[in-house]
Amino acid sequence: MRFASGLGWRTDGRLRPKTRPDLLRMVSPPDISPATTAVTTSRGSDPTITARAEIVAKELGCPMLRRGGLSIAEVRDSTGRENLIVVTTEQVRLVAGGSVFWFHPNMARSRIEAMLRSEYDRLVEFAGVTTGDRVFDATGGLGSDAIVFAHAAGQSGHVCAVERSEILSAIVRHGSRYYEHRNREVIKAMRRVMFTCDDSSELLKTEADRTWDVVYFDPMFDVTYKTSQGLDLVRRLASLEPVRPGAIDQACRVARRCVVMKDREEGERLKALGFRDISQRGKLAYGRITM
Ligand SMILES: C[S@@+](CC[C@H](N)C(=O)[O-])C[C@H]1O[C@@H](n2cnc3c(N)ncnc32)[C@H](O)[C@@H]1O
Repeated sequence: MRFASGLGWRTDGRLRPKTRPDLLRMVSPPDISPATTAVTTSRGSDPTITARAEIVAKELGCPMLRRGGLSIAEVRDSTGRENLIVVTTEQVRLVAGGSVFWFHPNMARSRIEAMLRSEYDRLVEFAGVTTGDRVFDATGGLGSDAIVFAHAAGQSGHVCAVERSEILSAIVRHGSRYYEHRNREVIKAMRRVMFTCDDSSELLKTEADRTWDVVYFDPMFDVTYKTSQGLDLVRRLASLEPVRPGAIDQACRVARRCVVMKDREEGERLKALGFRDISQRGKLAYGRITM
């Protein structure tokens, strides 16, 4: 357990008042960034896993510690870093406080399985993504929507998922390379996605006119990622910044067919950003601007 300014951090990351409950509102949980993170491997890893961990560390500019037989606490002590990325045979895990998060295709797996049974996927249909399409996912997150797009676009398509958080992007980029599942279509789709770390609002400015069939935005809602294990960490990693109108203008310039954005059921953000073609059903709304 760590203590800061008279407040106690529980190891599960939740704040517990110690002496100054009035300060609780002003203190946020410890930052998870490359500056507070080190990379290591699972215990007794072979040279292949060590080499993967070295690549992750180099990309993030973090120290890399060969684990040997050390415990997580000993790796934290040796590196002086609070948060660890642990590379294993099939996973790239973030261990921060008492929480652990690793890449998983989440709903992408069941959505692809449904598409393989010729069932309809609401987002794929609404965005009109089909074989050979180029899709620019401006809010990559955990990569689930991008993986479903990659399945719909097939081998001849191209899906780029841009995520602003360096740590989240690294976990998803490397995790999706080594994740294994018996459904090969899910694996093939995730391996085809180009996961990249950038601010998509800036990246869109550098893209040529009409070079992507679909540009997609799925910004954070208040409730996104609130409920599942490990997803409290994703909330801490993710950028909560709303989509700027300038980003939608750039998306309209680079899109050949349409710009699509997800919103909660009321669709208020869609309306504010000029989306008029809105599909409202269940807890989600999708908006589309057609070129
Ligand atoms: C709700 S999540 C996206 C979930 C994703 N569609 C999926 O299926 O996993 C939104 C993500 O967009 C990222 N984000 C927000 N603004 C961004 C920007 N300007 N550039 C890149 N990523 C951004 C956040 O960090 C967050 O991870």
